[in-house]
Amino acid sequence: MIRSVVRGFGAALPKRVMTNKEIESRVDTSDEWIVQRTGIRQRYIAGEGETSASLGEAAARAALERAGLTPDDVDLIIVATSTPDNTFPATAVNIQNRLGMRHGAAFDMQAVCSGFVYAVATADAYIRGGLSKRALVIGAETFSRLLDWTDRTTCVLFGDGAGAIVLEAQEAAGTKADRGVLTAQLRSDGAHRDKLYVDGGPSTTGTVGHLRMEGREVFKHAVGMITDVIEAAFEATGTTADDIDWLVPHQANRRIIDGSAKKLGIPLEKVVVTVDLHGNTSAASIPLALDAAASDGRIKKGDLVMLEAMGGGFTWGSVLLRW
Ligand code: ACO
Repeated sequence: MIRSVVRGFGAALPKRVMTNKEIESRVDTSDEWIVQRTGIRQRYIAGEGETSASLGEAAARAALERAGLTPDDVDLIIVATSTPDNTFPATAVNIQNRLGMRHGAAFDMQAVCSGFVYAVATADAYIRGGLSKRALVIGAETFSRLLDWTDRTTCVLFGDGAGAIVLEAQEAAGTKADRGVLTAQLRSDGAHRDKLYVDGGPSTTGTVGHLRMEGREVFKHAVGMITDVIEAAFEATGTTADDIDWLVPHQANRRIIDGSAKKLGIPLEKVVVTVDLHGNTSAASIPLALDAAASDGRIKKGDLVMLEAMGGGFTWGSVLLRW
């Protein structure tokens, strides 16, 4: 059977770092409050000329270089983003053009913070279905441009950045020892759509709008939804928490990450955390965390890695893969 195997990874962050201290001068908050409630110490903020497409392009180039590939070798680009450069065309097409690619297919995936998990699941389905041989899966966001910088309940939480992986079709035995994506579990429930949303859009206000969130409501649902899809991935593959080498969660909030790991019985030493450095970069957070942990040698070839995310919609999902 065919599996989608990670062949390369890369990431890109804006040049500018914004610390909690700097946010103190904008809204009534404190470094202590932000660290205690979220674990966030700093985030990166896109400057002039830096966009979701430019950051996504840089991450894609890094992933291709690490894989020893060129854009000619890829036939699919999926970009998970809620902050596209334009309403249309897709940021994926923008990145395709920046890479000098004139072949294959490119489209965006919009599942907010769960976007990367949805995009990996989609690329995996394309690859296993024979529609693609090699896919660039990118999470690229500039949430700083959606924030209401006078709203202390949201503006302290988010940051900008991009990460990418190259998934490649490889023959496999069809067991849980295979490298590649072993299962993806996706969920959504639109009844929660107004708990985390943007109050504008092309078909309603004709404006871009600002992010709005009922933080406590999101928090209340997060751990249960995350553990539900991780347990579904265990069940689908005949694995358990003990088999996991690395949990790479969406990086929204340290308390959600720790709470989920504890509930699942995954020790914190096996959890990759970057929320302190990046803040919540939505669909970019998982590939940024993968890049950090694979670059410094924590995640190694053959490791069993669980990705999970939950976000606006609500959407949530997990991907279990062997690196
Ligand atoms: N600085 C100082 N005080 C603040 C700030 C701030 N930045 N923001 C809110 N407060 C105040 C509130 O006004 C409130 O004051 P009051 O008691 O006088 O009314 C007090 O702090 C407590 O507010 P809560 O909202 O109850 O604080 P909570 O402990 O729930 O923490 C937080 C807020 C961090 C947003 C939390 O609810 C959370 O993490 N929710 C999850 C949301 C999230 O991570 N979303 C990301 C997108 S979704 C995702 O990626 C999963």
